[in-house]
Amino acid sequence: MLAKFPGKFYAIAHMKGIILAGGAGSRLYPLTLVASKQLQPVFDKPMVYYPLTTLIEGGIRELCLISTPHDLPRFQQLLGDGSRFGVTIDYREQAKPAGIAQAFLIAESFIGQDNVTLILGDNIFYGGDSFYKAFAEFKSGETIYGYHVNDPERYGVVEFDADGKAVSIEEKPKLPKSNYAVPGLYICDNQVIEIAKNLKPSARGELEITAVNVEYLKRGALRVQRLARGFAWLDAGTSSSLHEASAYVQTIEKRAGIKIGCPEEAAFRQGFVSLAQLEKIVGAMPNCEYRAYLENEVVAEAKRLQK
Ligand code: DAU
Repeated sequence: MLAKFPGKFYAIAHMKGIILAGGAGSRLYPLTLVASKQLQPVFDKPMVYYPLTTLIEGGIRELCLISTPHDLPRFQQLLGDGSRFGVTIDYREQAKPAGIAQAFLIAESFIGQDNVTLILGDNIFYGGDSFYKAFAEFKSGETIYGYHVNDPERYGVVEFDADGKAVSIEEKPKLPKSNYAVPGLYICDNQVIEIAKNLKPSARGELEITAVNVEYLKRGALRVQRLARGFAWLDAGTSSSLHEASAYVQTIEKRAGIKIGCPEEAAFRQGFVSLAQLEKIVGAMPNCEYRAYLENEVVAEAKRLQK
């Protein structure tokens, strides 16, 4: 993840990024009475910093954040136009939580003719070289992931045949056909807009992302990659999983002396902001651990390597 040399640009062409950060957040009530779920802290930073960092590490520079009319201004306050992270951020409203796949319709004009990666604002990924290779090598169809969990019934579940090929995907099945949950990161070609337009609301009244995945599967255009055991995928959608995610981040950060989900650092390592820009950004931060980390571990290290 940290091997790239600052100063070079590692942006992926023709790949847009959407962060979906709306929803009612009812499972985190009363925390979500004032601030939405994706603004809650996961250890030392707001939840949305983690998926934002995943997209930046993956080389995606044109981003769109979707949230509720009520919460959108707060995300704008937090992330601004994205220039602090060397990216652009378009903001779009989702009037009602009518389903994850609605994101492709809300963002249709933003996606244009490009491919698009959708990431859920409460999904945290950590490990390996993030998704850089997958974004860079993506050509067509859809790429999703399978991650072994002990409670698959809470998620979209993918079933594999003996050759490791995906054969079925079901949303929150009572009797899961495997332990492989589908994490909230979907890499899609431009067909996704047409697919989303033809979806019918499910029994719970939502445009389901699983229905999009099933359509790509039917078209023979779905790739499902199993995430390796060392890879961490956390979702922070309930009080317990939020707490566990915080504890996980704290453990790794304390042990390794690094930060997970630090978009300023990712933007610098990706070459999206220069060292001089990073110094200016860090200089504008109040004195805090976050600033100290960027100053002492990232800026100082880069200067040492420059010598
Ligand atoms: O976390 C991965 C799982 O996310 C997948 O395995 C499932 O297939 C997928 O349906 C989804 O399941 P969840 O039960 O976690 O979905 P939830 O309704 O909690 O929404 C996930 C995030 O997307 C959450 O941060 C809120 C946001 N959201 C959701 C909906 C339905 C929106 O912004 N707008 C929406 O309309």
